Amino acid sequence: MALLEVEDLVVSFGGNKAVRGISLALDSGVKTGLIGESGCGKTVTALAILGLLPETATVSGSVRFEGKELLSSSEGELARLRGDHLGVVFQEPMTALNPMMRVGRQIAEVLEIHDLASRTGARRRAIELIEMVRLDDPEVTARKYPHQLSGGQRQRIVLAMALAGDPTLLIADEPTTALDVTVQSEILLLLDDLVDDLNTSLLLISHDLPLVASLCDELLVMYGGTIVERGEVNEVFGRPLHPYTAGLREASDLDQVEDDQELRTIEGSVPPLGEFPTGCVFRDRCEYADDECLQVPRLEVPSGEGHEAACFHPVRHD
Ligand SMILES: Nc1ncnc2c1ncn2[C@@H]1O[C@H](COP(=O)(O)OP(=O)(O)OP(=O)(O)O)[C@@H](O)[C@H]1O
Ligand code: SF4
Ligand SMILES: [Mg+2]
Repeated sequence: MALLEVEDLVVSFGGNKAVRGISLALDSGVKTGLIGESGCGKTVTALAILGLLPETATVSGSVRFEGKELLSSSEGELARLRGDHLGVVFQEPMTALNPMMRVGRQIAEVLEIHDLASRTGARRRAIELIEMVRLDDPEVTARKYPHQLSGGQRQRIVLAMALAGDPTLLIADEPTTALDVTVQSEILLLLDDLVDDLNTSLLLISHDLPLVASLCDELLVMYGGTIVERGEVNEVFGRPLHPYTAGLREASDLDQVEDDQELRTIEGSVPPLGEFPTGCVFRDRCEYADDECLQVPRLEVPSGEGHEAACFHPVRHD
């Protein structure tokens, strides 16, 4: 049984689908990257899994985590799961932190709320967790308020909180995008080391294909609320089959810049909800589109290939 199984997940806002019936499975100990441009439905997917969607969202389908259906779980059950079996790190550390509370206490509170330690045990464990996320002087750091820390240090505290309950799955949505470029890679390498050490599965959400490819085992590529390609990282990054993935790869190919060429970007931009074309959602931006693409392509393994793509005319690499 997969750790997380999502089946036919649909999320709509005002009748427009932000997620259009996606299915995916994450296995234990596997690091999966979810990539796609801004507005493709990555965060909405994560929020649906976590039970954190706003009330304006309409949701259907199934999200099973450790065999339990989450879409029909109560708020209380979901809150218990988050910070316990399910760890979460979002883009902006300040939204996860209470500005009025010392950071050591905030980590200890996660442990207490989830009955993972007594008050003294929680304090001691919070110091260990601060050490684990490689912050200097854990005793001193624990007594600081969020505003006394840098953005990178705050995100380390959020990571300590997310890992406090020894989760089986960590969902990290653009965990370093809000940070200074110089600390982004440090935090990502730390996150990568920690999930390896703790044998935690990771769902890493980003728009940065090469970065995710360097850290993850599996890749899911999302466009227009659908999964357009998925498979083992070397397959998807090395032999992209969907024109969208191939475009993302080309747009991030730094060799082009070194050769003084202009960096190619994917033609056009992600439309707002409700303005995607019928049939293949990528149709209005795709150079290979023809009449067949007026139908919705299924996510399947094209003949002679090793992983899945939702495209009638997959890119050939021979
Ligand atoms: N609460 C909401 N109400 C209405 N539309 C929403 C809401 N949240 C998201 N959307 C829309 O759903 C679509 C997908 O949004 P989502 O935040 O999942 O994108 P994303 O892939 O995470 O992008 P980014 O890389 O910018 O974070 C977008 O068109 C967005 O405007
Ligand atoms: S199905 Fe057609 S429009 Fe969609 S990506 Fe493939 S070739 Fe392009
Ligand atoms: Mg997002």
